[in-house]
Amino acid sequence: MKLFRALQTQGFGSRKACRLRVRAGTVAVNGVDCTDPDVEVDPGSLELSVDGERWPFREHAYLALHKPAGYECSHQPSHHPGVFALLPAPLVQRGVQCVGRLDQDTTGLLLLSDDGQFIHRMISPKKGVPKVYCARCAEPVAPAMLDVLRAGVRLRDEPAPVAALACTSVDDHTLQLTLAEGKYHQVKRMIAAAGNSVVALHRESIGAYVLPADLAPGSWRWLETEDLERLERTWPFVKS
Ligand code: URA
Repeated sequence: MKLFRALQTQGFGSRKACRLRVRAGTVAVNGVDCTDPDVEVDPGSLELSVDGERWPFREHAYLALHKPAGYECSHQPSHHPGVFALLPAPLVQRGVQCVGRLDQDTTGLLLLSDDGQFIHRMISPKKGVPKVYCARCAEPVAPAMLDVLRAGVRLRDEPAPVAALACTSVDDHTLQLTLAEGKYHQVKRMIAAAGNSVVALHRESIGAYVLPADLAPGSWRWLETEDLERLERTWPFVKS
């Protein structure tokens, strides 16, 4: 692959812009400055450096973001900034999308990728990738409410009752809920249907990938091979 093309795939702009970047002397290949945009590079072992910043070549981008409250999961946010404002420009330019949406006031684990098939696998109800949420409720969490959420509640426009895969209390006002799908406002609607309401919602994990404790709100990181394996496991529809 030619160097300018490698840069283009990583989100550094148009063909012309990438050629100009290289000619301007802002790009290094595996630690060596390079001003020839047409030089052949091996994507399998390519570490680019652009304006002094390291950019290992990645065929696809897989990211974990610790979403803070007050950000919308949209490229055209209406009332709050979009989560894409928290990412470096090349990642946005290469077209990363949210893997399912979190509400603007929900915090926690948000995955992003430019791999459409990966996104589909993560959000498809058929795959049943579990998502674990911690919900703080306005009213005390009664044991009967947990039973109701496990048994399934009726939601408007849903033909069948929607049930949590697992539901346990964390403290008197907080519960942990595991869902296999990601319907619109699902946690808030389920808890409302069970007679309570959510005052704060946080996503803790997706599949076997847990939001890293050292990933501060507003920060992101690349997902590595072992992280992707944690996400790509096959999940049985087990209820607890
Ligand atoms: N369920 C909700 O109600 N909101 C979210 O942000 C995610 C799941």
